[in-house]
Amino acid sequence: MTGTLYGLGVGPGDPELLTLKAHRILRDTYVIAYPQPDNAPSFARSIVAQYLTAEQLEIPIIVPMDVKRDPAQEVYKLTAENIAHHLDAGSDVAVLCEGDTFFYGSFMYLYQHLAHRYPCEIVPGISSVMAASAAWGRPVAARNDVFSVVPAPLGDDEIKARIEASDAVAIMKLGRHFPRVRALLKQMGLEEQAGYCERVSLGNEKVMPLGEVTQIEAPYFSMILIYKGAEGWVNGLPPRARA
Ligand SMILES: C[S@@+](CC[C@H](N)C(=O)[O-])C[C@H]1O[C@@H](n2cnc3c(N)ncnc32)[C@H](O)[C@@H]1O
Repeated sequence: MTGTLYGLGVGPGDPELLTLKAHRILRDTYVIAYPQPDNAPSFARSIVAQYLTAEQLEIPIIVPMDVKRDPAQEVYKLTAENIAHHLDAGSDVAVLCEGDTFFYGSFMYLYQHLAHRYPCEIVPGISSVMAASAAWGRPVAARNDVFSVVPAPLGDDEIKARIEASDAVAIMKLGRHFPRVRALLKQMGLEEQAGYCERVSLGNEKVMPLGEVTQIEAPYFSMILIYKGAEGWVNGLPPRARA
C-alpha cells in the first residue's frame, strides 16, 4: 500500500483559520513538507507550528528567492522524488500551503510530478482574499459583479485593462510593485475605493483605506482590494471600510 499525498491549505495566517479537516490530517500524518524561502522561516509552517509534534518528520522545501522559475522547478522535482520514497514506503505525506492550496499555491508543482503516481487529496484552505475582505469589512462581490484577481507584477496597461473590466478587484503579490500600483490607482481615480490589507489575520495586521497608507513600501504578504460596484454597502459599514 502506498501512502496518500495531501495538499493542505492552512489558511491566511491565524492558526484558528485552519479547517477541521486540515487539522485532523496534520495530526495524523507522519511526514510534513512545506515551502521555505532560502532567507527566512517557512510562513506555512509557522501557521501550524503549534499543532506539530517532535515525532513527525519535516521536509522543508528550500525555494530560492529568484524571480526566474528554473531553480525552483529543479527543487520541486527533487523534492517530489524524496516525497515519492516516503509514499512508496507507505507513509502519508502532507504538504502545507499558505491560504488555499490551488490558488497561486506552489503545491501544484509537486502535484504535477506526483498526482498521477499516488493517491492524492487536496484540502482547500481559507484564502487570503477572503480573509482580507473580512478584515476590510467589505464584501468581495455581489449579484452579478465581476471580480478579478490581478497579480501586481503585471504591467500597468494590463492591470488597468483588468480593473476597467471589473466591478471588484484584488491586487495580489504587491511587494516591490506597491508604489507603481498605488500611483496607477491614483491616476485612475480609484484610491478612495481601495483598501490596503497587510499580513491579514496575523498579530501585526494592517488594514486601512489606501489613501491613508503612509509607508512607501509593502511586504509580499499584502494586497489591495477595490470595489467599484453600485451596492449601498458603504453606509453602515465599520469606519475602516468607509473609504
Ligand atoms: C503566492 S500567493 C498565495 C496565495 C494563497 N495561496 C492564498 O490562497 O491566499 C501570495 C500572495 O497572497 C497574498 N497573501 C497571502 N497571505 C496574505 C495575508 N495574510 N495578508 C495579505 N495578503 C496575503 C499576498 O498578495 C501574497 O503576495
